[in-house]
Amino acid sequence: MTARASIADVAALASYTDLLRRRGRPVLALPEHDPVIDAADPVLKRKVGETWKRRAHEELKAAMAFTMLVRGLMEVGAAPDALTRVARAVTDEIRHAELLRALGARYLGEEAPWPPAVHVDVGPLGPQPRRRASLHAVTLCCVSESIASVFFETAHDAATSPSARTTLGVVLADEVEHARAGWVYLASIRDDADVIAFLQAALATVVRDTAAAWFDFTYVTLPDGAHDHGLLANADVRRCAVTALRDLVLPGFTQLGFDVAAAEDVVRGLPVD
Ligand SMILES: [Fe+2]
Ligand SMILES: [Fe+2]
Repeated sequence: MTARASIADVAALASYTDLLRRRGRPVLALPEHDPVIDAADPVLKRKVGETWKRRAHEELKAAMAFTMLVRGLMEVGAAPDALTRVARAVTDEIRHAELLRALGARYLGEEAPWPPAVHVDVGPLGPQPRRRASLHAVTLCCVSESIASVFFETAHDAATSPSARTTLGVVLADEVEHARAGWVYLASIRDDADVIAFLQAALATVVRDTAAAWFDFTYVTLPDGAHDHGLLANADVRRCAVTALRDLVLPGFTQLGFDVAAAEDVVRGLPVD
């Protein structure tokens, strides 16, 4: 599974009835032995463990974002192909919270608690619910989850810890599907001229704001990363975001008939060191 394998190519994907089958996959078991964690400096090990704990909470916030998106898509009667994929993402993100919590515990050498509550303001969808739900789908899935796919792929490829690699591989596979959920949805509304025109007008802003969210390193305690342990440096994260926007996101929009010239200008202007 690689993020660059054409996330936006939705024609050959499984139907929603296949997705609705229960498969009962077990939550991941970490490898019994991890010489990379065992050999790590204790101070670094604690910082890495704390980072995974914080990131577990971020995954739970992602679960909330998808929960809100499911609500919006249900309210506008989204097609089941898109709805099923977005609904699955809710439980995927909760599973990611568990995976990263368990990985954090492995690094800390002690039990790590389940992350705290996620707060949310639930307002009405407003007078243009299709526009708002569609903007949310595009922002969260097509743009942010595509960046997440390249981010996790890069982190996975850099990691040497078997525990980090195993965990990141599972998360990566899901993030690719979350990005696809957005492209499936967008393809399903391509004949809705009002919504498509609205999304076209918003596209450059969506790209700018989503990149800004990925470039917010306020809570990062290891700015140079810890590559063996699956943590990227801030500079790597910026590069991942630009790569994803340039190579996956903008080509995806082009494929669906959008004019990406203004969004390309935004991407070209993003700071990458
Ligand atoms: Fe996730
Ligand atoms: Fe995701």
